[in-house]
Amino acid sequence: MKKIFGGTETKVVQYVESVFQPEDACLKETRERAELKGLPIIQVGKMDGLHLETLTRAIGAKKAVEIGTLGGYSGICITRGLGPEGKLYTFEVDQTHADTARESFKKAGILDQIEIHIGPALDQLHKINKNAPFDLVFIDADKVNYPQYLKWAADHLKIGGVVLADNTLAWGMIADSSFGSIEDERAVKALREFNLVAAQGGRFRSTLLPTGEGLTLAIKIR
Ligand SMILES: C[S@@+](CC[C@H](N)C(=O)[O-])C[C@H]1O[C@@H](n2cnc3c(N)ncnc32)[C@H](O)[C@@H]1O
Repeated sequence: MKKIFGGTETKVVQYVESVFQPEDACLKETRERAELKGLPIIQVGKMDGLHLETLTRAIGAKKAVEIGTLGGYSGICITRGLGPEGKLYTFEVDQTHADTARESFKKAGILDQIEIHIGPALDQLHKINKNAPFDLVFIDADKVNYPQYLKWAADHLKIGGVVLADNTLAWGMIADSSFGSIEDERAVKALREFNLVAAQGGRFRSTLLPTGEGLTLAIKIR
């Protein structure tokens, strides 16, 4: 799926990308490196990367967590938003993805700001509990575990800290009642649970930004 911003109208997308210039040479190289190494092409879209950087800057985040590193594209965006004093803890289950990300972080000159944890995130997250409270948690990994990642975030973010979660419109399937596969059904049900708890669970004030894939933004209020 091609990741675009602002609908499917090519001239609008071209206009937005030419004005906001979301992808510099370093991010382009990061995207291309991931492709060359055979990683799936599922990193955030260019404008979503820029959303991550600007939202991270807007909240003055200094300590962020990312679940789902892939080749490091979104990690670079978030770390840029954190600024040179910031720290990113990123979680990735796949060794090749993590190695590729490490190379891209090094090329971007930010490797010393990033801790990469390898393994299923639910088994790894406890390793950074001692560094809580965090300012930002970006969730972009296995959809079935989104509700559990949200629970971890609720317990380890500061009040006023933010959760950003990608793909929360489930590639257009979020409101469907029948599915092509059991995997899709499980993913959609988990994303619905995630959105419901973010919106109505009492610990967050939330919205869903209508990006190409849906980006839930939840602020911890209690
Ligand atoms: C959509 S990609 C992340 C894209 C990345 N955030 C970016 O935009 O550059 C999802 C990543 O999550 C990883 N992943 C899947 N399940 C995971 C798990 N249980 N724990 C940690 N990482 C996981 C996948 O291997 C994949 O690299």
